[in-house]
Amino acid sequence: MSAPFAFNPLDPETRRDPFALYARGRAEQPLLVHEGLPLPIFSVFHYDDVQAILRDDSIWSNQFDPAFEGTTLYEPEEERTDSMLGLDGEPHHRLRSLVNKAFTPRVIQRREAQMRSNAAALVDAAVAAGEVDLVEALTHPFPVQVIAEIIGIPFEDRKRFKDWSDRVIQDLGLGFFEQPSEESILRSREIFAEMSEYFVPLAQERARDPKQDLLTGLVLAEHEGSKLSHDEMLSMLVLLLVAGNETTTTLIGNAALELMAHPEQMERLRKNPDLMPTAVDEVLRFASPVQFDPRRATRAVTLHGIEIPENGIVLSWIGSANRDEKIFDRAEFFDIARTPNPHLSFGFGVHYCIGANLARLEARIALETLLARTRHIERTDDAPLPLHESPVFRAVSKIPVRLEAA
Ligand code: HEM
Repeated sequence: MSAPFAFNPLDPETRRDPFALYARGRAEQPLLVHEGLPLPIFSVFHYDDVQAILRDDSIWSNQFDPAFEGTTLYEPEEERTDSMLGLDGEPHHRLRSLVNKAFTPRVIQRREAQMRSNAAALVDAAVAAGEVDLVEALTHPFPVQVIAEIIGIPFEDRKRFKDWSDRVIQDLGLGFFEQPSEESILRSREIFAEMSEYFVPLAQERARDPKQDLLTGLVLAEHEGSKLSHDEMLSMLVLLLVAGNETTTTLIGNAALELMAHPEQMERLRKNPDLMPTAVDEVLRFASPVQFDPRRATRAVTLHGIEIPENGIVLSWIGSANRDEKIFDRAEFFDIARTPNPHLSFGFGVHYCIGANLARLEARIALETLLARTRHIERTDDAPLPLHESPVFRAVSKIPVRLEAA
């Protein structure tokens, strides 16, 4: 085996274009040991390994506290209530069943008309402006509006909701690599306190006056035999912010970027709008919003001849699995008609993304609206775009574009 190659998930150049390094990982170092980090961290790059780890929750846990205990990264005074994403087994299943029904295809479909009218208003304003930052104009506000409506946040409070969403996600995943800053610790406490202050009266209102929204569902579940505690409800709401907003913003933004970078595919999609579903999945594969999915080993495991100790953390590189030539023909090509396309961008196994149907529909609606109302879309310049701070995402925080009305 050759010497380990340098792979630093925090390096901005790597984050912009990690694909050559992923290919080296798959060819030379299927299990990479990260040196010099405060925790024992490993990376896997093959589709089969990523899928096997996400599938086997008898070994691979989503609860990370035991890995942090005893390290400088641990804050023992901190009281945490894990969201379902950070739970395993029955506690995870219980919380997941409670929200699952809010995200079934049928329930999501009922929101389609409202989603289309939200997208149309945003795109019309952007086209009228001519030159815009697509993130600010469309990709960011649109998913926030959608999830706020699903939860049942009053319209006038959308701004606060968006602000929590931005702050909560800012440095997601950074804690695996470095000591969290004072500012970051304070920020997460502040957000939890602010959200608690905001949602307590709103939840009480729903208990008195139930509505057709997710908040009512959570409140009623809380009341039926105390199924959901107050902190669990808050953690759930924080999770929906974390899991649902930046990811979908990134998907729509990455779709616009890939289509602008592949004008022939943009043309093909304009001429064949029926390709939209496969196009969205191809963006998910080719420019996966979430690049890695971490797990903790609950016992020592040997993989590719290397022992991962109990509590070792493995980063499963979804972004690399999605380019694995053993699974995808011409994996380095962006092909909006690709089928089959078994990408792992929504994860795999028990934690498979609950919002996958919703995210796909949002992306379809946003892109359909954008393409239908424009004749041409282009970047205003070729300057490198600013990266999102969190290493979990392959995302940019600005996409300046010029839009020509249809
Ligand atoms: C393109 C958009 C999205 C991507 C790429 C994405 C990706 C993912 C991934 C990779 C996971 C698995 C995490 C793990 O294995 O630990 C996940 C879980 C989850 N996602 Fe998404 N997601 C997206 C949109 C959404 C939306 C719109 C929602 C809801 C509003 C959502 C809610 C969730 C929740 C609640 C979980 C945790 C499920 C569990 O622990 O059982 N996601 N997502």
